[in-house]
Amino acid sequence: MHITILSSSTRIDRLSHRVALFLEKAINATGEHTASVLDLAEFNFPIMEEVLHKHPNPPEGLPEFAAEIRRSDAHIFVSPEYNGTYTSALKNAVDYLKEREFSKKVIGVAAVSTGMLGGIRAALSMQQLVLGVAGFPLPQMFTVPQVAQKFDEQGNLQDAAFESRASLFLQNFLWLAEAVSVKKGVEV
Ligand SMILES: Cc1cc2nc3c(=O)[nH]c(=O)nc-3n(C[C@H](O)[C@H](O)[C@H](O)COP(=O)(O)O)c2cc1C
Repeated sequence: MHITILSSSTRIDRLSHRVALFLEKAINATGEHTASVLDLAEFNFPIMEEVLHKHPNPPEGLPEFAAEIRRSDAHIFVSPEYNGTYTSALKNAVDYLKEREFSKKVIGVAAVSTGMLGGIRAALSMQQLVLGVAGFPLPQMFTVPQVAQKFDEQGNLQDAAFESRASLFLQNFLWLAEAVSVKKGVEV
């Protein structure tokens, strides 16, 4: 399978991108699956004025972004918790695309905070977003509290005690994503 990881903080000196890099490396290290990060800070899409398939003049990079999502078998949304939910950049990017790209795919959610709660409210609201685009939300979520102590800037795990949580999330994600993608087949 190929997995895309949407990294959705566009903040200067962001920390949650570390978690996206970690997940990308961990999936690629399986040797069985591949992963790539789609970085919403790099795409820097303007606020949505029309969905992609109706847009007379799509923003730069959007058709390529959509194509990369379409060719992927499953996704992980990574977001910090901002004021009790996920980032507006994630909502904006997903709203451009919606069901054509996400329907019937497994989407896992990873939420991040510098505090103790690991962005649980962002994780729950991302699962609702997955339902909104007719995806299958993975029931298990990856919540990362105190992110700065857990991952370095390159996405290497610094806290050995956290490793089992990360690998359990990935195990569950890959198991369900594989089952669904075999059934679905890849729609290009
Ligand atoms: C606008 C804003 C709102 C935030 N709201 C929350 C929040 O509701 N809950 C929480 O645990 N942390 C909150 N934080 C703290 C973030 O968890 C912390 O800044 C984290 O590093 C943000 O991720 P990022 O660095 O990838 O942007 C907020 C931070 C910002 C900038």
